[in-house]
Amino acid sequence: MVNLLMANPDPTVAERVERDTEPAPSPEHAPLYTFQVKNLSVWYGEKRAIDDVTLHIASNAVTAIIGPSGCGKSTFLRCLNRMHELVPKTRVEGTVLLQGDDLYSNSVDPAIVRRRVGMVFQKSNPFPTMSIGENVVIGLRLNGVRNQKFLNERLEKSLRMAALWDEVKDDLHKPGTSLSGGQQQRLCIARALAVEPEVILMDEPCSALDPIATAKIEELIHELKAQYTIVTVTHNMQQAGRVSDYTAFFYLGRLIEFGPTTKIFTNPSQRQTEDYITGRFG
Ligand SMILES: Nc1ncnc2c1ncn2[C@@H]1O[C@H](COP(=O)(O)OP(=O)(O)OP(=O)(O)O)[C@@H](O)[C@H]1O
Ligand SMILES: [Mg+2]
Repeated sequence: MVNLLMANPDPTVAERVERDTEPAPSPEHAPLYTFQVKNLSVWYGEKRAIDDVTLHIASNAVTAIIGPSGCGKSTFLRCLNRMHELVPKTRVEGTVLLQGDDLYSNSVDPAIVRRRVGMVFQKSNPFPTMSIGENVVIGLRLNGVRNQKFLNERLEKSLRMAALWDEVKDDLHKPGTSLSGGQQQRLCIARALAVEPEVILMDEPCSALDPIATAKIEELIHELKAQYTIVTVTHNMQQAGRVSDYTAFFYLGRLIEFGPTTKIFTNPSQRQTEDYITGRFG
């Protein structure tokens, strides 16, 4: 593995990474890396979309995935919660460890993986026939939770964490689709949070939002990292710079460079990274 975490802002993580180029899933490492991705390759039929990517994703931090359209960002993200295999004719090789657990082991239930690793998409997608409240607790209901007091508590907690409670607390019975685009996206974040995942994956969560709604989501991402590990895909370089601690630059399915966001944006090691972040291509 090429270790590019040189000027890590968190000395504890940096030291561990420096001295351990092949981190093993030991208890010592468990709290440091939520994901350990090793030699991951992904195919759509004959086409390889991810090419031998090795990357460790730090816990309680925001990692941004950047790169030009078609470079494999969404594909990579979907491999972190086994959503990728829902696409027909795909194949995954390599290892993805979540807190040391091999996500692709035969004994692992993909439904449990997706509960541990929540996802928010580019376009907000509240369930159109459901109220705001039902949208938030649907995951719990599908998991068999029936206790109304518990559901109400989790509803409020999730909406508060998604910074939406004050705006919707009197309208919980209204349709989720009655909210603005930015509110709908925060509703989807609340829905992801309600099942208490360990990780939240976000695939261009702000690309359909105006600057004010975007600022709210960015603020939220910042607050959520105290409790969650967040991996977000963005086309917006300023956003990657503002919200992320680490940045991974992908190009043509390969991980070109990975490191602290400050380093990637101020002193990248690779020419391709520099060309991309300065807008010379992509
Ligand atoms: N369902 C699919 N079937 C076949 N090929 C696919 C499929 N989805 C993606 N690909 C291909 O895999 C490669 C990576 O696609 P992916 O969607 O991961 O890129 P991306 O970096 O997220 O792009 P964008 O920034 O446009 O969202 C592309 O070449 C794309 O054409
Ligand atoms: Mg994409």
